[in-house]
Amino acid sequence: TASTANTPTAEIGVIGGSGFYSFLENVTEIQVDTPYGSPSDSLFLGEIAGRRVAFLPRHGRSHHLPPHRINYRANLWALRSVGVRQVLGPCAVGGLRPEYGPGTLLVPDQFVDRTQSRVQTFYDGLPLPDGTIPNVVHVSPADPYCHDGRKAALEAARGQDWEPVDGGTLVVIEGPRFSTRAESRWYAAMGWSVVGMTGHPEAVLARELALCYTSMALVTDLDAGAVSGEGVSHEEVMEVFAANVDRLRTVLFDAVAGLPADGERDCLCTRALGGLDPGIQLP
Ligand code: ADE
Repeated sequence: TASTANTPTAEIGVIGGSGFYSFLENVTEIQVDTPYGSPSDSLFLGEIAGRRVAFLPRHGRSHHLPPHRINYRANLWALRSVGVRQVLGPCAVGGLRPEYGPGTLLVPDQFVDRTQSRVQTFYDGLPLPDGTIPNVVHVSPADPYCHDGRKAALEAARGQDWEPVDGGTLVVIEGPRFSTRAESRWYAAMGWSVVGMTGHPEAVLARELALCYTSMALVTDLDAGAVSGEGVSHEEVMEVFAANVDRLRTVLFDAVAGLPADGERDCLCTRALGGLDPGIQLP
């Protein structure tokens, strides 16, 4: 639903991944409903460096939603409805090259979609609860991530002496299982960099709403094919995330501070819909 005069607003959204359930202090918690259903949790609104930020835990605050059951549409819509126009999406990933070991921060510039069951558009021609029907709209994810957001993320990491990997391909698998050794070796042989479960459809749905979206991938493990060994475990992922969550939070704070001011966005994301008519009122 559209924000009203009394609803607190935000300009920047952070969708926190596994291990990232709280982000800001002194937050205002608000529940937002959308024509596409309920987001993963409440939005937690607060301030960083004078910027108004909305935090949303992607899997819910108690991690009850597996990657394939996250309502990505509701999450992006809810953020936009409180005023958010730029989104940072930290996520946990597996490294597909030995040099991308645990603790590596990679800011991808491409993704490959290997998911199978996820709704990936707002514009599916089905009526919304208010009776309006979205048009069919084709956006381009040729460069799926925001140029300016990536720059802010990379500079923020460097400012913390955490040299990030600038660019690379995030392959998004359906999950919730990890990959077989053969799948993992195949992804690596294709030249892809890291593997995760939530990067799609989050980025393309943001693009469909003309939001800026930046993925920040924290490597928590070397994926099955990258090394011999027992394969990935959920505990390992959570442990490495926990060990890095403080510096990732700092980098996110600095990245927020480095994003363009609301009225000064001038990236291609802002023109994602071009002259296209979505047929529905965007929030
Ligand atoms: N998230 C964290 N590690 C992962 C891996 N190895 N594969 C897929 N998603 C992940």
